[in-house]
Amino acid sequence: MTSSAIVASGLKKAYGDKVVLAGIDLDVRAGSVFALLGPNGAGKTTTVNVLTTLASADSGTVRVAGYDIVSDTKKVRAAIGVTGQFASVDELLSGEENLQLMADLHRLRGSAGKRVVRQLLKRFDLEESAGKLASTYSGGMRRKLDLAMTLVGRPRIIFLDEPTTGLDPRSRRTMWGIVRELVADGMTILLTTQYLEEADQLADRIAVLDQGLLVAEGSPEQLKRQIPGGHIRLRFAGAEQLGAAARVLAGSTVDLDALVLRVPSDGGVKSVRAVLDRLDEYAVDVEEFTVHMPDLDDVFLALTGHSSTEVTSR
Ligand SMILES: Nc1ncnc2c1ncn2[C@@H]1O[C@H](COP(=O)(O)OP(=O)(O)O)[C@@H](O)[C@H]1O
Ligand SMILES: [Mg+2]
Repeated sequence: MTSSAIVASGLKKAYGDKVVLAGIDLDVRAGSVFALLGPNGAGKTTTVNVLTTLASADSGTVRVAGYDIVSDTKKVRAAIGVTGQFASVDELLSGEENLQLMADLHRLRGSAGKRVVRQLLKRFDLEESAGKLASTYSGGMRRKLDLAMTLVGRPRIIFLDEPTTGLDPRSRRTMWGIVRELVADGMTILLTTQYLEEADQLADRIAVLDQGLLVAEGSPEQLKRQIPGGHIRLRFAGAEQLGAAARVLAGSTVDLDALVLRVPSDGGVKSVRAVLDRLDEYAVDVEEFTVHMPDLDDVFLALTGHSSTEVTSR
């Protein structure tokens, strides 16, 4: 039997007459990464706020690290770390001072506190900027500092609310690496994201949140089986070329009006090269060539019948 780090059952929350969470059940296995995937306004932050005791639910029960969030709030808070969508970094302090402040809050006095601060600065590659004001940090550095501050208290369960939104691809990859390290250290992570790729890269299980309800839950593989895969889109100058390509590329679908052929593909170099080689072999000319990987919109269209940005009122 594997133990659960977070168990939520029947979570409901409304602000006024706006239902934000309409009954959510979650079970996050200890030592795993659980991704809550959903567009803006789906209820991700509200879910995190409830699970981390920052907001109260209208109904439902939650156990975090084995403790009930209502009757054992203090124990829950001692077991978790939260890195919010909007960084809790103090801009007027340096990176080192921000960390030292957290060490003080956790009563890590004297050399013990200093040691933890130094270790975290090193671990997150922030040593050179340690003395600079956080207001001068890049978005990626700020996220790293925010997460480092969360780790001062040695939490077993970490909540990351949209940890990479707004980051450039390089900083995003750095953050992914950090998440993987934390899991390797035995921590449990619940993260929220708007990116299918991020959930796919990091999570053991993904739950798709749509207007306060989970519309799908499973491993990345299970989820991807429910959505259309990636494809290569080829546009041709005329019907003749289109027909010739359709004959030599197995499994392709033809859109005669648009002179477009879609070929199933994982988007990898191998599969792309195979398609191009085949067209070359049969001397078929292509006007336009694009690789399309499934994204959050594809997930939502497949699972809910509406796109992720389409707001439907309840
Ligand atoms: N404190 C609040 N008061 C009123 N409405 C809120 C409050 N917090 C969130 N909401 C509403 O709840 C919905 C979900 O918000 P949120 O949980 O922040 O979504 P996400 O994090 O997925 O973008 C939104 O429509 C938002 O406007
Ligand atoms: Mg949010």
